[in-house]
Amino acid sequence: METNCVMHPDCSEILIGTEELRKRVRELGAILTEEYRGKDLIAIGLLKGSFVFMSDLVRAMDMDLNVDFMVVSSYGASTESSGNIKINMDLKADLSGKHVLIVEDILDTGATLYFIRDLIRLRGPESVKICTLLDKPSRRRADITADFKGFTVENKFIVGYGLDYAEKYRNLPYIAVLKPEIYQ
Ligand code: IMP
Ligand code: MG
Repeated sequence: METNCVMHPDCSEILIGTEELRKRVRELGAILTEEYRGKDLIAIGLLKGSFVFMSDLVRAMDMDLNVDFMVVSSYGASTESSGNIKINMDLKADLSGKHVLIVEDILDTGATLYFIRDLIRLRGPESVKICTLLDKPSRRRADITADFKGFTVENKFIVGYGLDYAEKYRNLPYIAVLKPEIYQ
């Protein structure tokens, strides 16, 4: 049953609905299970944006795995990445010999993932791959692509399913376009 399908009044359009999200995350879970079954996998969620996607994704994976999180920030209360990536909380896990899957909400300019992937590579993992729910290729500045992705989106500022504007809207159970008058 579709719940919470009344759109938030600060949004102009639902881009990806709850059921579509559920279906695609299930597909990604199956693809990742094929890729990693039998391997020593650690899924690393970048907080806060990935927390909803991460929790649905790992439950769609039918295999043993570890999870850990990093709190990174680059935006502040703006819709433009500052390019200055800050690590507010680092990993607890030792990555040596592990297969790492970085789980992110959206790959936008790429600055965040470019920086974090390099940092993780220095810690001696067996492999490092990226799974992003959303990809906004039109905004890319860093030379980076996702190994696994849920959806490609156009260049609009979106919120919901973990994505925020000024820390709001993360709990919306769908991905929606934020009305420009809210952030202008
Ligand atoms: P990047 O470093 O420019 O790739 O930005 C990545 C981060 O910016 C993501 O993890 C999000 O937190 C945030 N971000 C990028 N685009 C959007 C958007 O449309 N809505 C909400 N957050 C976004
Ligand atoms: Mg964010």
